[in-house]
Amino acid sequence: MNFFLDKTARPDYMGCMAINGGIRRNTMAALRLDRFSASTKLYNLSRRYLAGGVSSGMRSACKPLPLFFEHAAGSHLRDVDGNEYIDYTLAWGPMILGHSHPGIIAAVEQQLAKFQLIGAQHELEAYVAEKIGAMVPSVELVAFNSSGSEAVQVALRLARAFTGRQKIIRFEGHYHGWLDNVLIGYRGYANGDGPRLSEGISERASDEVYVAPWNDVEQIESILKKHSHQVAAIIMEPIVCNNSCLMPRSGYLEAVRDLATRHDVTLIFDEVITGFRVARGGAQSLLGVTPDLTILGKAVAGGFPLAVVAGKRKVMELIEQRRVLHAGTFNGHPISLAAAKATLDALDENDGRLLEQIRTRGERLMNGIASLAGQASIPILINGVGAAFHVSFTTRKEMHNFRDTLDNDTDARDRFLEAMLENGVYLLPDGRWYVGAAHTEADLAATLQAVGKAFKAESSLHRFAEAE
Ligand SMILES: Cc1ncc(COP(=O)(O)O)c(C=O)c1O
Repeated sequence: MNFFLDKTARPDYMGCMAINGGIRRNTMAALRLDRFSASTKLYNLSRRYLAGGVSSGMRSACKPLPLFFEHAAGSHLRDVDGNEYIDYTLAWGPMILGHSHPGIIAAVEQQLAKFQLIGAQHELEAYVAEKIGAMVPSVELVAFNSSGSEAVQVALRLARAFTGRQKIIRFEGHYHGWLDNVLIGYRGYANGDGPRLSEGISERASDEVYVAPWNDVEQIESILKKHSHQVAAIIMEPIVCNNSCLMPRSGYLEAVRDLATRHDVTLIFDEVITGFRVARGGAQSLLGVTPDLTILGKAVAGGFPLAVVAGKRKVMELIEQRRVLHAGTFNGHPISLAAAKATLDALDENDGRLLEQIRTRGERLMNGIASLAGQASIPILINGVGAAFHVSFTTRKEMHNFRDTLDNDTDARDRFLEAMLENGVYLLPDGRWYVGAAHTEADLAATLQAVGKAFKAESSLHRFAEAE
């Protein structure tokens, strides 16, 4: 199903089909729904009072149904039916050190015993702020929030105040949270209007943004040529984890950096996923391009709610000057900051050894998957880096932007995901993989065995179809 072209389809937020009535049946003969009877029961119960039966719309895309879990440790999950999985979702990114990490639990327990929330200052704020400044190249000042969506809005407000301009350039396929002004254009923008993803979005939201295809310098040049006096910020995911883990073309980030500087536009890197995952200093240190503002979230507190807007002093200091209001009851939450301290200390020690291990293990998985696909003659394309990559079922050799990524056989992907689930590997519904510090050599071997089985099943399906 192509949501970009089919305006009647009801997309979920992952670009997958929403599940009719909650539970998708008959998607794959091999997957027995009775394996999930306790999850099914809880899901049905939940939906009586919890809108949609899930607490974030994205989770409704999980097939054959959103599962319920009862235990998580290291890289492993157990659902309420007793099925065990190697987890490559990592809670959609945050669990960089794994589930139930002893260092994080100890830090949180220690903080819980001292105080939980006071609504005033405490030492961990200063420690974590300084640590982030030391790890991320462009960061001179930081401000804390609880969610990435909020931190994005702080960054946009700062950019507007700093430049005295109103509009934002954003890119098709890049996700910056669920609020109106950044949901526009997330799943495309055909004829000036893509699928809306939600009813109830303010009609004025489209007036705030220019939506451009990514990886195309000329498009940005042409918007800035006409409208630079109106543009406050360019916001992007420097590696587009929310859209097939697309990588920037060589020289693209440098060119956008240069255009932003020449037109006095604030360049914002949304590193909610890539931060403290692809390198100690995020994608900006991996790729060598420095934004004015950075948004961090997910991995920063290893599973506790914390997001950060951070960047150049000349922009961030508008907060201190009280020209920009930044507020929130739970901002700088002591429990989250205790978890952040433990997480960042672990990621930073021994010159970032853990992130290096994540990178190399992830790359081994990428290579292993590619080679198994080759053996089974299944056409796939893997984009991304070891710590975050995506598998598309396509004959394309390259993908560079949102429209390219629509060339993905989502039925084959769904069969693959369900075969992986059947074989004890839990993946995100769009085909994205997050590798973490808790993934062991044994996990990798078991995972590649599961991949081999899944591809074999897919390839015999094709042979069967051909024979028919
Ligand atoms: C790149 C990016 N930015 C912003 C957000 C929004 O963060 P949150 O879900 O914490 O509001 C997300 C969430 O997935 C994200 O991936």
